[in-house]
Amino acid sequence: MKRINVIPMPNKVEFLDGEAVVNAEMLTVSVDGSLGDEEYILTVDQSGAKLTGGSEKAVFYGKQTLRQLGTHCPCVRIEDKPAFPYRGFMLDTVRHIFTVEDIKKLVDAAASVKMNVMHWHLTDDQGFRIYSARRPEATLKGSTRKSSDFGRLEESGEYGGYFTPEEMREVVDYCSERYITVIPEMDMPGHTSALLHAYPQLSCKGEAVEVKTSQGIYEDILCAGKDETFEVVFDILSDILEIFPSEYIHIGGDEAPKTRWKECPHCQQRMKKEGLKDEETLQGWFTNQVVEFLKSKGRKAIVWNESLRSGVVDRSVTAQMWMDKKKHSVKFANEGGVMINSDFFHYYCDYPYSMTPLIKTYSYNPVDRKIKDKSTVAGVEAPIWTEYINNFEYLCRMFFPRATAVAETGWTYRENKDAADFQRRLGSYKKILDEIGITPAPEEDWNPSVFDRVTKTVYFFTGLLKRKN
Ligand code: ACM
Ligand code: ZN
Repeated sequence: MKRINVIPMPNKVEFLDGEAVVNAEMLTVSVDGSLGDEEYILTVDQSGAKLTGGSEKAVFYGKQTLRQLGTHCPCVRIEDKPAFPYRGFMLDTVRHIFTVEDIKKLVDAAASVKMNVMHWHLTDDQGFRIYSARRPEATLKGSTRKSSDFGRLEESGEYGGYFTPEEMREVVDYCSERYITVIPEMDMPGHTSALLHAYPQLSCKGEAVEVKTSQGIYEDILCAGKDETFEVVFDILSDILEIFPSEYIHIGGDEAPKTRWKECPHCQQRMKKEGLKDEETLQGWFTNQVVEFLKSKGRKAIVWNESLRSGVVDRSVTAQMWMDKKKHSVKFANEGGVMINSDFFHYYCDYPYSMTPLIKTYSYNPVDRKIKDKSTVAGVEAPIWTEYINNFEYLCRMFFPRATAVAETGWTYRENKDAADFQRRLGSYKKILDEIGITPAPEEDWNPSVFDRVTKTVYFFTGLLKRKN
């Protein structure tokens, strides 16, 4: 049987007679504007390889396919375009920071499987990692924590670091050369302890807040009642907009407890003045202030699904679903919004393979059954949070090949997925990761036995499982 070992599997593959020897001199490339922006046609036969793309980006995708076909392959004609326009990965550089060199390796891996978004989680309770020229205190005070205690992973001593504008631009440019858009995230109003450490006056109580040293959901969040909150947020966002040219900016919105807002005279005053019925609606209002600011600069917002709870958030936002029992994001999409799927139980790559085996990630359908129109799901994203991950080798084992599976779901239209075939193709794809300098999890780790699934997951959550490295 003829087959090709390409990830993501191209959407239309027609085998021609014979086998081809492929080399760079035998490739002709053209751009044809009648094809889609991400669509390409690639023919490989004994006379050489011919690649036509709807744009330079599409040509880049065709080249990724060609690279994976290898030097010897069956003669083929491939017609290909993606199932979803948004195919991303998310990196948390707050809980642990990674070098620009290592980030570039992740970008290379993402590009090799036709991903087009790097969502960069840059601010949180445990550190503020964007250098802000307008508000340098945010970075200089907020980027260092006194110690780290993330359960399994205890590290003594101060931990800190941030990305300079030059470093962030370097990542943006590197991504851009690979047709990947960097979407920076400044999380708010929750997950802001590091910012509040620099600006305690922006909390409801106005008291000192530490840069957090462990994982959690913290009650001190940005006060929605104080005008100064928005002055600082807009200053930092202005810096972010100068560095990141992306149409979308991620403004977080997850896990924001309302404890302080309920007791805060400023927040209560704001609710009264704006006629907001409860604190959830106050978060909706908060989000809309930031959305309006971004709109005034020609940008749009992405928000985590909790931001939708009040039902008042502007329809121009894109909702990122991660954990959404009440399906606010599906309702939002069905009412004219757009969503991205990064489901916790299938796509969070920081959890062990015992909890999220590769087959579970690969087999997942990112379009919820209750979605009325598939085009309201912009796509998929594989996040990796780094509370438990403090070195690049371990990050790579957790991320690959699960992120690769998410990339294929984002690109390839499939009713019934063949996980065994995907895993077979990974055998060849490993060479590409190897060239990039990434070592994925060994195959024996991908799909643990039922016994291991139970015991290792229990160990993970009880903190008994020691990291392998
Ligand atoms: C999240 O995992 N808190 C978005
Ligand atoms: Zn307040």
